[in-house]
Amino acid sequence: MTTVKPGEVVGGGLPKLASGRGSWVVDVSGKEYLDGSGGPAVFCLGHSHPEVNEAIRHQLDLVAHAYRYNFTSDPLEELTELVGRRAGPDLQQMVFTCGGSEAVESALKIALHFHWANGEPTRSRFIARRRSWHGNTLGALSVSDLSDRQAPYRGSMLTVSHISPANAFRPPNGVDPADVATWCAAELESEIIRLGPANVAAFIFEPVVGAAGGVVPAPDGYARLVREVCDRHGVLMIADEVMCGAGRCGTWRALEHDGVVPDIMSVAKGLAGGYVPLGATLYHRRIADVLEAISGGPMTGHTFTGHTLACAAGAAVQRIVERDGLVERVHRDGPALQQSLRDALGAVDAVEQCVGDVRGRGFFVGIEFVADRATKEPFDPSLALHLRIRRQALDHGLICYPMGGNVDGKRGDTVIIAPPFNASAEDLDQIVQRFANSVQSALAEIGRS
Ligand SMILES: Cc1ncc(COP(=O)(O)O)c(C=O)c1O
Repeated sequence: MTTVKPGEVVGGGLPKLASGRGSWVVDVSGKEYLDGSGGPAVFCLGHSHPEVNEAIRHQLDLVAHAYRYNFTSDPLEELTELVGRRAGPDLQQMVFTCGGSEAVESALKIALHFHWANGEPTRSRFIARRRSWHGNTLGALSVSDLSDRQAPYRGSMLTVSHISPANAFRPPNGVDPADVATWCAAELESEIIRLGPANVAAFIFEPVVGAAGGVVPAPDGYARLVREVCDRHGVLMIADEVMCGAGRCGTWRALEHDGVVPDIMSVAKGLAGGYVPLGATLYHRRIADVLEAISGGPMTGHTFTGHTLACAAGAAVQRIVERDGLVERVHRDGPALQQSLRDALGAVDAVEQCVGDVRGRGFFVGIEFVADRATKEPFDPSLALHLRIRRQALDHGLICYPMGGNVDGKRGDTVIIAPPFNASAEDLDQIVQRFANSVQSALAEIGRS
């Protein structure tokens, strides 16, 4: 048994986690942390939910895995049914993966496979957006835009067009915030035409940008315009909902908010709520018809595709989310969470002066810090404000998700708050208060509060 003093930093600078329950986790020293972000927006039911744990134990006692290409299983079928019900009638086809990157990789491959099977093999180019993150496998990394994480692999990455982020707080090209949706959709169409529609496979985007942007919901109307552009040119629309999906934004699919159905969609983090690694790629019936006719189905299978234990965990999580009305709860209480963050950060004038934007949807809130509110000038990146906030938050017993570089890849400090869907009202209040205190302490370190 490791013995450390309360709050002592162990394990290469990180606290060592011992256990968790509900919205709280405890390190080996006994120090408690409120989980204000579920790591990167993962733990939608908090930790050690007894029903999820029981479902996992029960499945393990039966059989760990029914290899997908030999057998189907109850958990696989139940999860398919649960996800299909929440995703809507057009997205009933799905493959289960081991996480978000694999779900994105499968989405890209399904798009390529569809065009090939559909007699358009030249459609091989992807268009994505700057300031987005889609994962760590080579294809997913290629459509991402986080230069530090891409640098060593540049030579072997896919050639991808990256267009502007649809960010109304930092509008591209100096356009009026009210025109961001139309300007960005027009930019997508120009890029498709420049490449030649017959060469373009798909446009991939995060409906609400997560880590790389610090929670950036696209402006209203954007997704509809993108849908129209894609349809005009036979380009598939891939919604990467790995972080923003599975209820996080107050609708099960984030794009439900926009009244738009993508052709392909990836989902992961909240799908099994962090209990086991699990993701999924959902695709439209018309894609399935083509794949089935020519190849019998998608060719994205792995040994652990549809892993039975993972599906049992995912089914338990989704059953509880549905039974307890948690997506509806997130939808209802999200605006109040955002407002209380604004109020708490606004309580101290010096802190308020450094808060550029508080934004998001549901229980997915991003706070962007700025050195100057009037000009939106970010802090000097050498100050690493977002990392200071993370360290202060850990000291204050709070987990939040910081990220730097949202402005141009280097500059910009954002922090994500993404609590469990079932966090109590008291826990949410505590998250907000601890966060505001942590921000104040971090700003004090750099002489700003
Ligand atoms: C939007 C998005 N897509 C894909 C991924 C990759 O998921 P994973 O880390 O589970 O491989 C992430 C991870 O943060 C993500 O936020």
